[in-house]
Amino acid sequence: MSSSDSQWWRDAVIYQVYPRSYADSDGDGVGDIPGIRARLAHLSALGVDAIWMSPWYPSPMADAGYDVADFRDIDPVFGSLAEAEALIEEAHAAGIRMIVDIVPNHISSEHPWFKAALADPEAKERDYFWFRPGRGDDGERMPTDWRGEFGGTTWTRTPDGSWYLHLFTPEQPDLNWDHPDVRAEFESILRFWFDRGVDGIRIDSAALLLKDPELPEVLEDSPHPFHDLDGVHDVYRSWRRIADSYGGDRALIGEVWMPEVERFANYLRPDELHAAFNFDFLGCAWDPRLMRDCVDRTLHAHAAVGAPATWVLSNHDVTRHVTRYGREDTTFSFDNNLDGTPVDLELGTRRARAAALLSLSLPGATYIYQGEELGLWENENIPPEEYQDPMWGRRGHSRDGCRVPLPWTGDEAPFGFTTATPWLPQPAEWKDRTAQAQTGDPSSMLELYRSAIALRRAEPGLHRGEMAWLDLTPSVLAFCRGQDFACVVNMSGAPVALPAHQSTLLASSPLDGDRLPPDTAVWLRMRT
Ligand code: GLC
Repeated sequence: MSSSDSQWWRDAVIYQVYPRSYADSDGDGVGDIPGIRARLAHLSALGVDAIWMSPWYPSPMADAGYDVADFRDIDPVFGSLAEAEALIEEAHAAGIRMIVDIVPNHISSEHPWFKAALADPEAKERDYFWFRPGRGDDGERMPTDWRGEFGGTTWTRTPDGSWYLHLFTPEQPDLNWDHPDVRAEFESILRFWFDRGVDGIRIDSAALLLKDPELPEVLEDSPHPFHDLDGVHDVYRSWRRIADSYGGDRALIGEVWMPEVERFANYLRPDELHAAFNFDFLGCAWDPRLMRDCVDRTLHAHAAVGAPATWVLSNHDVTRHVTRYGREDTTFSFDNNLDGTPVDLELGTRRARAAALLSLSLPGATYIYQGEELGLWENENIPPEEYQDPMWGRRGHSRDGCRVPLPWTGDEAPFGFTTATPWLPQPAEWKDRTAQAQTGDPSSMLELYRSAIALRRAEPGLHRGEMAWLDLTPSVLAFCRGQDFACVVNMSGAPVALPAHQSTLLASSPLDGDRLPPDTAVWLRMRT
């Protein structure tokens, strides 16, 4: 493995593969495992330490695979279990670790458990879910007025008149984590994948599992009935014991959306998860004061529990950051996507380049969402009738624009992704952003990422040295790593003088003599 340290998750570069959109090998327009295997060399050349694979299990794809019908197999659209095992082996041979995605909050309505529960109200599987009578004399009113995570309601009525809970779509019934069979099943699923050699588990919607059985409404001054209930920590303590039983180099990485940092850090206590995604950083505006506060908050919260921070700019749920950073409002929220605001892609790209150097030199692990190394932007021009995301229609937001298949080669769509029509349309302008077009071009995003990751590996002090802020001007974010290195990001609108340094290791855009142009980052060697 590339990281000699057994606690590899502490400072790994982790690349998210969204299998539907990485590479298609069989000409059905949807990416698959043989496609990933055929293009594994791209990830070796990029230099990543690990792959996080978004769900690849059998699924009716009501939520692009986050509606799992069988956690111990692979959906035929992606390939077979044997191919998944071959990919794990090949990735390991290339020095790349593998993380699989487990979705414990809900399963697919096509999962045998839910089918059994629907078929017979007396079935034992009924208690694996949240079936409840409705309110009112005729039970016509749903048991609560909870609002769904995708917007809309959270209960669906069954033919026998009862209702079942789903925080996401009706095709994703929530599991009852108070039931020991549910706990035992997921513990067995973890072992299934650890036995196949995977190095980590990404835990979907990790804070939602437990629900208050009294089903109170969501009220401002009362404990939340389904978000971050204390009992959820017992689940992760037992998962941690399982991970540790494999020798201590298997990591649990949680998707925890949580505004309160202390509550967030609870998930990262020494006997719980190893790491969690930093959505605070992802959502932060391109603003030096806000970014600096965010970095401080993050490092402080993680230090308190001894966990490594993570730096995430994009993923399969959010507007790509080239687009976010090219708008007037540079924050991420589910409500500001597709709102028609103009995007300056040149500015967004420039800032994304600077953000790459920033996120690769802060203390902790860095996540790269596939395509960000190619500088892809959100495709905001998908005809709405082609949207596949279930969020569209419920919340007026579609995540499809960040899930568009990767451009690999050639001058026109489908850019080597497939021989058929890709499942989502690619912008014609991506001809300049293919991996082929960028390879060997020192000014490209791809070569910037390759150089930065290679430097990070060659100079461990760049991301392991003690971090301390350098106070330049308020609109510049600057910090040193140990005595030897510094990262400076100019977020002001004007060039700034660089601090005294020995040499420039890498710049996100050309320097202006000894001055750092706006929206540019640089890695400096401070002394020999
Ligand atoms: C997570 C996933 C997202 C999915 C949701 C429901 O937030 O990242 O893609 O829709 O959970 O499983």
